[in-house]
Amino acid sequence: MSSNRESALRQIERLRKEIDRHDYLYYVTADPEITDQQYDALMRQLIELEYEFPDLVSPGSPTQRVGGEPLGSFSQVTHATPMLSLANCYNIDELYDFDRRIRELYDGEPEYVCELKIDGVSAALTYRNHTLTTGATRGDGRIGDEITGNLRTIRSIPLSAPDDMPPDLEVRGEVYFTRREFDAMNTQREIDGLKPFMNPRNAAAGTLKILDSREVAKRPLSFFAYGMIGEGLNMKSQSEILETLKSARFPTNPNWRVCSGLSDVEAYLDRWDADRYELPYETDGVVIKLNDISWWERLGATAKNPRWSIAYKFSTEKALTRLLSVDWQVGRTGAVTPVANLEPVLLLGTVVKRATLHNEDEIERLGIRTGDWVEIEKGGEIIPKVNRFLADKRPEDTEPIEFPTRCPECGSELVRDEAEVVRRCSNWDCPAQITGRIRHFASRGAMDIEGLGGKTVEAIVAAGIVKDAGDLYSITKSQIESLPGMAEISAENLIGGIEDSKVKMFDRLLFGLGIRHVGIGVARIIAAEYKDLDSLEQAPEEELQQTPEVGAVITESIKQFFAFEPNIRLISKLKEAGMIGRTEHDERSSQHLKGKIFVLTGSLKNFSRESAGDEIRIRGGRVTSSVSKKTDFVIAGANPGSKYKKADKLDVKVLDEKRFVDLLSK
Ligand code: IVH
Repeated sequence: MSSNRESALRQIERLRKEIDRHDYLYYVTADPEITDQQYDALMRQLIELEYEFPDLVSPGSPTQRVGGEPLGSFSQVTHATPMLSLANCYNIDELYDFDRRIRELYDGEPEYVCELKIDGVSAALTYRNHTLTTGATRGDGRIGDEITGNLRTIRSIPLSAPDDMPPDLEVRGEVYFTRREFDAMNTQREIDGLKPFMNPRNAAAGTLKILDSREVAKRPLSFFAYGMIGEGLNMKSQSEILETLKSARFPTNPNWRVCSGLSDVEAYLDRWDADRYELPYETDGVVIKLNDISWWERLGATAKNPRWSIAYKFSTEKALTRLLSVDWQVGRTGAVTPVANLEPVLLLGTVVKRATLHNEDEIERLGIRTGDWVEIEKGGEIIPKVNRFLADKRPEDTEPIEFPTRCPECGSELVRDEAEVVRRCSNWDCPAQITGRIRHFASRGAMDIEGLGGKTVEAIVAAGIVKDAGDLYSITKSQIESLPGMAEISAENLIGGIEDSKVKMFDRLLFGLGIRHVGIGVARIIAAEYKDLDSLEQAPEEELQQTPEVGAVITESIKQFFAFEPNIRLISKLKEAGMIGRTEHDERSSQHLKGKIFVLTGSLKNFSRESAGDEIRIRGGRVTSSVSKKTDFVIAGANPGSKYKKADKLDVKVLDEKRFVDLLSK
């Protein structure tokens, strides 16, 4: 009997090794040597032997991957080494800050390892005497849940560590679902009448929380190892860790790379930002780690995050969140548009709480109700928009979105033009419209009046100090000081800003008037032809129509504008204030920057971005937002961003403020 038992033990050990190897070949290298039937046969043999000799069953046996008795609750484990999380960054500038902080301390040129940031749940695997004994979640970083049984079901996680590894070893990594398994699981859930999971990460987190590991075993989770702790390991670098993990048969993500500088890192980010959609799993960014481990301890950590690593998050153009309520906003033209109030959600690196809901027709077409889960998206516009609602996630307590019939600001009847999709407030004196018109006039792209932000406009309109932009020029300091929250300094600042605006370029003034169809582009063209308000007003219709880009529609709109009573009052106030707009386009400026392309970065002492742009444009130059080979000059003020570095890389000429002024006055 005992020899029988001994031979059974030998056979069991052989079978376990063999099955482990085939698990590795199948689940880690994706290069199996045997068929599924052959594998099943090996497993059956092992199950039978363990059945016959139940005392030989051990947690390290592949038969244990199918899960065991459900738990009442998870026990807690204290992480011997805390599981920190990483600080996030969302753009290259923040990455340069990270690099700079390291360089302040680090001797020499830091080398970084870039790894894909797998969108899953982190886990710690403890091997004692080379056998997987404990698996835990991160928890709060110090104490996590013991989920050994659940982690054992993950076929790519080795149940034992090789002999050449330290007997006591901790391996850390990410548990995740592949897109395929995630989709399959959600389809099944829908068939079963269960709520589908939002994304693979939620699905992984939800699965690891299940107390019945047999249920977990039915959901094929995956794992990538990225860290390792153990006495006697003496790892010198993160790249060595990843190589060692791989040779110890842990699944590692193959797409990591050693980068010798930030330009290599940037190339890696660019590549995976584009290629991530081709991957069989989801990645939400890149983890950048200082390769040299000897510095990890020296650099240390803040309360939560290590200083030697950072997570660069890819921008998500889309996000899902709840629609809480809808506000109706009255714009400067009286158009009443719906704005969605959302449960705050991260999108392209900013927290989004509001999004546009387009218009009434679109709401009806989409069928959205308040309380719905909605997909939001940020495109080229600054304000994100609501794309659709998720029908399969509609909660029970949604409510229809109600369309207003009266202006939410002034109570007057709303009118809807047959041809239009919007309802408009028809009251020219509606405070929301007045505010909107003045805000537009003062905005950066128009008159760029310093000190006159949205809140201030609201305050001066509410106080009845101004009714139109023309009234700005007769505001007194004491009127502003009487407003709550306005100190003497800000009043002075505002008066100064208004005064300065009198000499702004005519194209800005024209655009600021808010004439329908006259954007800044058209305004520039018109301002080049007609030097001031008078000449434009008196321009014969046929002549105006002949101006490039200005056809019958724009001409009609301009004529209507000047004929409308409230605008006549506005124009006369502006003229009285001496506002005719600066028109040195042709006279003063030589066109010596004609055809030259500029990019502005950092802050200039004597110019705002807008005024620097104006100075370039009146001399014939152009301003663009990103540096390329076509860029002629980068104007770098204080604290320039990554554009400066890009210019350096592309050998584009960089001018400081002094040399910029020299160039302007040539
Ligand atoms: S390193 C202190 N590497 O991202 C170092 N994390 O906060 C901690 N993650 O909690 C983690 N892929 O869940 C690291 N290749 C990777 C990763 C990765 C995904 C997750 C992990 C961590 C979070 C960062």
